[in-house]
Amino acid sequence: MTKSEYRTIEVSLMRIIAFNGSPRKKWKTATLLGKALEGAASQGAKTELIHLYDLNFKGCISCFACKTKGGKSYGKCAVKDDLTPVFRKIEKSDAIILGSTIYFGNVPGEIRSFMGRLLFPYLTYIDPPQSLFPNRIKTGFIYTMNTTEEQMKERGYLQLFNHHEMILKMIFGASEYICSFDTYQFKDYSKVVSDRFGPEKKTKRRKEIFPIDCEKAFEMGQDLLLVGSNSFI
Ligand SMILES: Cc1cc2nc3c(=O)[nH]c(=O)nc-3n(C[C@H](O)[C@H](O)[C@H](O)COP(=O)(O)O)c2cc1C
Repeated sequence: MTKSEYRTIEVSLMRIIAFNGSPRKKWKTATLLGKALEGAASQGAKTELIHLYDLNFKGCISCFACKTKGGKSYGKCAVKDDLTPVFRKIEKSDAIILGSTIYFGNVPGEIRSFMGRLLFPYLTYIDPPQSLFPNRIKTGFIYTMNTTEEQMKERGYLQLFNHHEMILKMIFGASEYICSFDTYQFKDYSKVVSDRFGPEKKTKRRKEIFPIDCEKAFEMGQDLLLVGSNSFI
């Protein structure tokens, strides 16, 4: 069977949800997540974009209800808030994509809290650790940042990205991430004190490189729904 035949048969009823971990709903992270969802939609998938900053929730409170023997919340987060219906939706989806900015060398608190609440209930405290997530699904992560690729490596961000990838693989299945570097940060560089980041260089990059990042995101969205795709494992 050819790759495209696989796609037509397997993705017709697939669902994919993207989570925007940037406070900005129309900027770089959201744009790239939108492109990834376009890629998934081009394969016939039903798509949804959820802005985490619209939701009312806090991080894990370490109640351990998700790990209590015989407890009614075993393998589930017992905290009831805006994330409760979101977690149920994720259990019915075929793929998820997380998108995040980088703030002070890490992902912002909101997406970190989201990840803690999402991942911890499925992680067993047995040896070796196992996942309680009911299915194997693919996940993607899109990071956007002001630094260049070289600076990103020097500053040790790769360790963070690889750590996320390792946990996502363990809990859900195949996972991959892409990065968009040296992003255009605000509408008008002449109005912001930002001498360190030349607007000409930024404008050139936005024009020449960001569209390539968008293509990569589109392809990621397609790949997330490909059954048996090697590019992703
Ligand atoms: C509070 C704050 C802290 C930031 N810290 C970093 C950083 O440590 N490293 C980096 O590469 N970019 C940093 N940035 C830049 C953003 O990560 C970058 O502009 C990102 O693309 C913004 O995503 P958005 O356009 O979706 O909002 C920071 C931005 C803000 C507002």
